[in-house]
Amino acid sequence: METMKLTIKTMNSKYRINPEIYGSFSEHLGRCIYDGIYLKDNHDVPNIDGIRNDIVEALKAIKLPVLRWPGGCFADEYHWRDGIGEKSMRKKMINTHWGGLTEDNSFGTHEFMKLCELIGCEPYIAGNLGSGTVQEMSEWIEYITSSEPSTVVEERITNGRKEPWKLKYFGVGNENWACGGNMRPQYYADLYRRYATYCRNYGPNRLYKIACGPNSDDYDWTDKIMEIITKDCSAISLHHYSWMTSQRAAELSEDNYYRIIAKSKKMDELIENHWNIMGKYDPDHKIKLVVDEWGTWYKTEEGTNPRFLHQQSTMTDAIVAASTLDIFNNRCNMVSMANIAQTVNVLQAVILTSGKQLIKTPTYHVFDIYKEHQNNMLLDSYCKNSTLDNDEQVKTISYSASMNRDGSIYITLSNASLDKEYEMDIELYDKSVETVSAEILTSDNYLSHNSFDEPEKIKKQEYSLFKLSNNGLIIKLLPCSVVGISLK
Ligand code: AHR
Repeated sequence: METMKLTIKTMNSKYRINPEIYGSFSEHLGRCIYDGIYLKDNHDVPNIDGIRNDIVEALKAIKLPVLRWPGGCFADEYHWRDGIGEKSMRKKMINTHWGGLTEDNSFGTHEFMKLCELIGCEPYIAGNLGSGTVQEMSEWIEYITSSEPSTVVEERITNGRKEPWKLKYFGVGNENWACGGNMRPQYYADLYRRYATYCRNYGPNRLYKIACGPNSDDYDWTDKIMEIITKDCSAISLHHYSWMTSQRAAELSEDNYYRIIAKSKKMDELIENHWNIMGKYDPDHKIKLVVDEWGTWYKTEEGTNPRFLHQQSTMTDAIVAASTLDIFNNRCNMVSMANIAQTVNVLQAVILTSGKQLIKTPTYHVFDIYKEHQNNMLLDSYCKNSTLDNDEQVKTISYSASMNRDGSIYITLSNASLDKEYEMDIELYDKSVETVSAEILTSDNYLSHNSFDEPEKIKKQEYSLFKLSNNGLIIKLLPCSVVGISLK
């Protein structure tokens, strides 16, 4: 068994790991909101005002910090006024982008804000720049956050909410280079400046405005918008999906497993390259990156509507999630937020539902292991990594380390190899270790997943294949595994 040394510096940490890196994204798409988070009819499932209790509990348990809504592509055809007031009177529309189904708008602003309150997470609203007006966007923010007497605020009070809500995160459009209006970067950037002007701060509420950034490696988009959007912007978004639409999640060939891993690990260079371009126009890096859509994208499950983007979530996805979260941790000075796509029943979901049943996917368990990093100080860590046999460029092990306020250290590791195990020799500078505990998520098959028949096949477990060494510990890292280690 090969030994790999991981060194961790425990002094002089500079950056805090933003909890928002562990965010999620819920769109009016397929069975994410309706028949997922929110029940229109099936009230046999315990719920509060239609919001499933089991989903709220599951998301609370992973300390979900922020939830993005209502899209996605849906955001730029969503008109918020259609989703307020008496439900039977709400306008019905066709969700043209996602399957042409009738959207009855029964889940709207009040329902979303209630969901966030129940979970205890920050709301992140994506505004409609593609097909909505400046006035519409402006009044949505007024409706949500103002307490000053106005017709819009009175409308909110009439609809049952006296106090304004706190809303920090606001996206000024989504994917405006494609479904959000097929715009050229210069045109979008000018529109951003115009729309953002009227996204006002009411009372104590302070908006964190997010502009539509690039798709994966579209560096030209970043360059052009950054030249024009010089102020009134807190972050730009980045979307990066790991695509494999020729195969279903649970049928992925071994070659395609390694391809997916390679695509997901590209996140690191994307962040670095976009960040460098942003620095040309914003040398102090006041504007951050928000990776508000990321994850795997496979062929949809047999028998489901292809526009519902419903896929299984396997151990492959767990490795993708772990290495992506390690990348975000290690780049937490650049990434202020990230949102996996999506929360329930869509793409790399953390939760799947069927009627009354709910299962937690392997990706959910990764978020559960990684939540310990939230708000910790990032520690410098270095490992002379090996590369996967199938692709010279792709690093086998992902890792990140952080320190809690109480001085305890949390380390996460993942091994993307399907056949090699490693002995990780973890050396800590300037810190002695007294107690260690660890958890693992693993399987001998990268296609393993939870199903409604076997909901707990894959779940995290206590792990004890480690021993203390002079300056740290030595731990066995199994193939296709994710480990979280707590050191005190
Ligand atoms: O997450 C699914 C879709 O992917 C989103 O609606 C869109 O923003 C992206 O293309």
